[in-house]
Amino acid sequence: MTRPVVLITRRLSDAVQERAARDYEAVLNPEDRVFTKVELIAKCQDADAVLPCHSEIFDTEVIAALPDRLRIIANHSVGVDHVDLAAAKARGIIVTNTPDVLSDATAEIAILLMLGAARRASEGDRMVREGRWDFWSPAFMVGRQVTGKRIGIVGMGRVGQVMAARARGFGMEVHYHNRRQLAPELEKGAIYHETLESLLPVSDVLSLHCPTTPETTGMMDAAAFARMPEGSVFVNTARGALVDEGSLIDALKDGPLFAAGLDVFRDEPGGNPELARLENVFLLPHIGSATTDTRDAMGFRALDNIDAVFAGREPGDRVA
Ligand code: DGY
Repeated sequence: MTRPVVLITRRLSDAVQERAARDYEAVLNPEDRVFTKVELIAKCQDADAVLPCHSEIFDTEVIAALPDRLRIIANHSVGVDHVDLAAAKARGIIVTNTPDVLSDATAEIAILLMLGAARRASEGDRMVREGRWDFWSPAFMVGRQVTGKRIGIVGMGRVGQVMAARARGFGMEVHYHNRRQLAPELEKGAIYHETLESLLPVSDVLSLHCPTTPETTGMMDAAAFARMPEGSVFVNTARGALVDEGSLIDALKDGPLFAAGLDVFRDEPGGNPELARLENVFLLPHIGSATTDTRDAMGFRALDNIDAVFAGREPGDRVA
């Protein structure tokens, strides 16, 4: 019996690639080259399943060009804003993601960004590294303490809930905005805000954990930043498209923000050079889920979804 062909668009962990090669005709990308749109379409022509990352854009045009044999787009990501879900659904192509397994790793990075921004970590690191540290005083490099402050979480899904748990470890008072209020056992005392407008003024730290949708794209604009408390810290580990970066830069230069910690940007890879010129930002290159444990778990979860489809079962993480 011929085995289904699974196209894996990027280099995944060895354990994941070994399992894929054990169970399927796995087409790998050992050089980890980013495919152009034309190459992506061409590579998909001989595939029964594709396992992409957020770096491969399945827009309307790509979806329309996929072969009839392709049954599933099994994303190696929780975010699926790189896939036109409606177009895939219309063509009967199943789309899945990898929820849960990256929540701890992403919340860890959000905490790192919160602390790095609040305590001026990039600025201090650069100063020591570049041999410019020639002075000390109690007035030197004074940052913001987060212990006991209020954190506002936008999107209280899986990652948001882990972030809330970690923030409680710092004695932070948790506020959140979500499409729906959580049940008390999930809320764990967190204070619900029906609107983003109501959450922003109580957020000494604001951390984004929501998906990019037409409603959330650009939601952190000049008016939103203006509602945040003076001296607050902004953290984004979700998607750059949630933020109007020009307004963020203004809020970092002129207030009310003290600092920002960012793992995601409008333009990736690369980021925003104007943001990078500011001292009061702590920047990372979209590595929220980049741990050995989590990369294995994400790949296995994507393969579980492919396994289900070829075994005639409903995949656990279907989003379209
Ligand atoms: C996700 O899973 O959405 C992360 O951003 C990595 O792609």
